[in-house]
Amino acid sequence: MRLFLDTANIEHIRHAAKLGVISGITTNPSLVAKEGSADYKSIILEICSIIDGPISAEVLSQETNSIIVEAREVSSWSPNVVVKIPITSQGLEAISVLSKEGIKVNLTLCFSLNQALLGALAGATYVSPFVGRLDDIGDDGMQLVGDITKLFRDYDLPTEVIAASIRHPLHCIAAAKIGADIATIPYKVLMQMAEHPLTTSGITRFLNDFAAVSKKI
Ligand code: E4P
Repeated sequence: MRLFLDTANIEHIRHAAKLGVISGITTNPSLVAKEGSADYKSIILEICSIIDGPISAEVLSQETNSIIVEAREVSSWSPNVVVKIPITSQGLEAISVLSKEGIKVNLTLCFSLNQALLGALAGATYVSPFVGRLDDIGDDGMQLVGDITKLFRDYDLPTEVIAASIRHPLHCIAAAKIGADIATIPYKVLMQMAEHPLTTSGITRFLNDFAAVSKKI
């Protein structure tokens, strides 16, 4: 399973890039707004200069034609840009046009197997089931990730599954076990994944033991 970072925070992206474990970025309008900027294009271009991989940028348009126009514009920003389009009937119509033009689409706000199937059939490159938001309403988000993954493999659909709305490290483990192609994770979760209290105490013990002998010599 590959890891994408789910953020528009440049500092976090720079740090994660140095770790060498992140192969793409997903953003959304809320994440861009959180950085205090309404200049989506500048943020995406800066991200593209840091990470050489798929960078998802979401359209704000709601109607088919305006989604298509906006998606063509967004995808022209860089060859790495993937256009994020929410799953609606207008979104699907747009995806079926855009995919024939070779524009990569990440179908977002996916909450059901049927929505994922439609996205894949329309030609989306990725579908993003939102695990945490489903868990929030008492549903089983990870079960949906597993169901979509199985469906796509059973029917040889080339669309990749991005486990999104990841809230904690256990989500990440579950996504990997259930067969997601990618998990897109917040920076905080990435940092948590690298930590273990036994690693921290183990380093302290090694250093103390070594220091004690060094003093004797
Ligand atoms: C995915 O592409 C979305 O940006 C994201 O995972 C949404 O997560 P949230 O439910 O934490 O907002």
